[in-house]
Amino acid sequence: MDFVIETHDLTRIFGNFTAVDKLNIKIRAGEIFGFLGPNGAGKSTAIRMLCGILEPSAGSASVLGFDLQRETEKIKRRIGYMSQKFSLYEDLTVQESLNFYASIYSLPRETRRQRLQEMAAMAGLTGREKELVANLSVGWKQRLALGCALIARPALIFLDEPTSGVSPTSRRRFFNIIQELADQGTTIIVTTHFMDEAERCHNIAFMSAGRLMAIGTPDYLKKNTLEGFLTELTIPQALAKISVIEKLPYVKECTIHGSQLHVLLAGEEQMEKLAEFTQVQPRPIIPSLEDVFIALAKRERGLREGEANA
Ligand SMILES: Nc1ncnc2c1ncn2[C@@H]1O[C@H](COP(=O)(O)OP(=O)(O)OP(=O)(O)O)[C@@H](O)[C@H]1O
Ligand SMILES: [Mg+2]
Repeated sequence: MDFVIETHDLTRIFGNFTAVDKLNIKIRAGEIFGFLGPNGAGKSTAIRMLCGILEPSAGSASVLGFDLQRETEKIKRRIGYMSQKFSLYEDLTVQESLNFYASIYSLPRETRRQRLQEMAAMAGLTGREKELVANLSVGWKQRLALGCALIARPALIFLDEPTSGVSPTSRRRFFNIIQELADQGTTIIVTTHFMDEAERCHNIAFMSAGRLMAIGTPDYLKKNTLEGFLTELTIPQALAKISVIEKLPYVKECTIHGSQLHVLLAGEEQMEKLAEFTQVQPRPIIPSLEDVFIALAKRERGLREGEANA
């Protein structure tokens, strides 16, 4: 098996609305694969199809070597899934929660005790097994939910925004666990809105309005997405100057990042013109993932408007 997941024009239509439009992706074993994109892009819908809990409207896919349409049950039994609105039972203890999932996956009794210990350790909850879920902070709950999704040691796990609403420290801790799992060969599909997490993915699929706009490593996307020459401008009252700068004929785009402006020029030779106009020397920079995402979301809006006017 070359790929853990391979999709061909995978599509989901709700009524007359296309939530995922002909998705084609390939994912290898041990990859951390990130789905990124604005709200409503179709990330959760794509994941729910790949988990076998939402039927595709068209197209096909193989997951762990099984056919997504014909062998759904086999797939479901072999994967872990943490949904975007995951929920644990508040009135169960840590141990009871893990036990509950162990029984769902029909783990044999002999291995249960050891797995429970392993998952509690992974979540950093050793010694707190008798604690009620209700008493755990969001970060602990999130790691416990991950433990529940991993209790049967699936080779493939789907994590839909696992770190939203969690503190930065907890988020980093959560991703460290993810990284360790991937190093051991587990394939991880994750969605996130955080750029630092996107940076830690091996490959990223950027979706917008149901369409796959770009796919590749973070480095590849940074080097190959923007059409032009990106510069950074450190200028007083940056925000107020965007509207003037973006109207200059040689400026393709101007966005604010912290207190700096990122100005996309058609080419390097226009740096001088910009310096003359602003009286500040722009600095060439490599695009960040955020620059990439802004550019891709804008490109998708352009495509849609073009189609609407056609
Ligand atoms: N069951 C459904 N019935 C009708 N429309 C749906 C259904 N599920 C999702 N959609 C629509 O499909 C689109 C994609 O939704 P999806 O949840 O996949 O987006 P997402 O990329 O996960 O967004 P977010 O970042 O907000 O989680 C949205 O416009 C959503 O309203
Ligand atoms: Mg979602």
